[in-house]
Amino acid sequence: MENGKFTRRLRLGMVGGGEGAYIGGIHRLASRLDNRFELVAGAFDVDAARGHRFAAANFISPDRSYADFNAMVAGESARVNKIDVVAICTPNHTHYPIAKAFIDAGFDVICEKPMTTTIEDAIALHELAEKSGRFVGVTYTYSGYPMVHEARRMVAAGKIGDVRVIQVEYPLEWMATAIEKAGNQQAAWRTDPKKNGRGGSIGDIGTHAYHLAGFVTGLRLNSLSADLATFVEGRQLDDNAHVMLRYEGGARGLLWSSQVAIGNSNGIRLRVFGSLGSLTWFQEQPNEIQFTELFGAPVTIKRGRDDLGPETKARTRTPPGHPEGYIEAFANLYAGFAEAIISRKEGRTADSSGTGLPTSWDGLKGVAFVDAVVDSHESGTSVWTNPKFV
Ligand code: NAI
Repeated sequence: MENGKFTRRLRLGMVGGGEGAYIGGIHRLASRLDNRFELVAGAFDVDAARGHRFAAANFISPDRSYADFNAMVAGESARVNKIDVVAICTPNHTHYPIAKAFIDAGFDVICEKPMTTTIEDAIALHELAEKSGRFVGVTYTYSGYPMVHEARRMVAAGKIGDVRVIQVEYPLEWMATAIEKAGNQQAAWRTDPKKNGRGGSIGDIGTHAYHLAGFVTGLRLNSLSADLATFVEGRQLDDNAHVMLRYEGGARGLLWSSQVAIGNSNGIRLRVFGSLGSLTWFQEQPNEIQFTELFGAPVTIKRGRDDLGPETKARTRTPPGHPEGYIEAFANLYAGFAEAIISRKEGRTADSSGTGLPTSWDGLKGVAFVDAVVDSHESGTSVWTNPKFV
């Protein structure tokens, strides 16, 4: 710090994300795009030897490659040049103990979703974040896309009038067969209730859809009614979920999450219908939104135009026509996390790069949503969502 100004990159640590893992690699790419982080330490794998091998291949100093997260907390706490923040890229059931250990030792945290596997842990983690003053970001990826911010801005500006209907879906095909029994690492823990939590597809991808719908419309959920199904024989958790949603103010929604939707890769799609118009965003065409005014022709609004909102432009890196996508969206979250952490270190208010940044509060809301969905399915009734967590 010079004259109160933070003058270096944030030192990033990582738990999970080792050899053969998925999301850790995306975090590493995203953290580098704006040159605000450097990865310096990690406990990259549940298997210590494999983790050390991975660390060496990624130029992590051997004394900062740790056998497990407890050793990492102890080792980093003892250093002068300790990490500033840790990214937790492990299966869901480990998020809470890992996040708690790092927060208790004074570190900031970037945590994967769903934030925890139980509502009790989600409440405890959110309260810990609030009490400790540590930053806890949760990677709801789709809120990093510039055109999602544009849709949010348009809804808030009244462009589609009062929101009446929300249709949101996240269909995937990759678990349409029992790949968890054929050695697929990612599917194995996702189908184990102890590791994934109570909700299968609803916890894994339904939470993304729920966050996206709330992020764009700004509406609070009142109640829901859910029907979960498990199509692949022997699977313990849902692999398909239909959820009817009732929002404050009368808007109705329908959320579909599926891991057995053959033909869909990452087709998260949001459609919002208001009293004056409608909006559609589809993540496989993420550089545009469709906007239709009452009785008007559909208009395609593309990323990069001059008349888009400041929050949209701030998340745009290349001129229109050059595609931007998933990595850039993830990097936009990392840019917001950096600003949240650095502004606190500098003792100033964060700039607008953090607008709408998902934190432990959004993490808690997501876990509460999963709980309500499973409760509704199991009881066969509509469930009022807990007004404390919407
Ligand atoms: P994965 O199975 O590919 O990777 C998990 C990694 O964590 C592996 O390297 C494993 O060795 C390591 N690990 C497990 N327990 C550990 C422990 N106690 N200490 C250290 N390392 C440990 O899993 P994947 O698909 O990367 O998912 C990880 C998390 O990311 C999950 O919470 C998942 O929901 C979330 N995710 C989020 C996405 C997003 O769009 N934000 C997309 C995909 C996953």
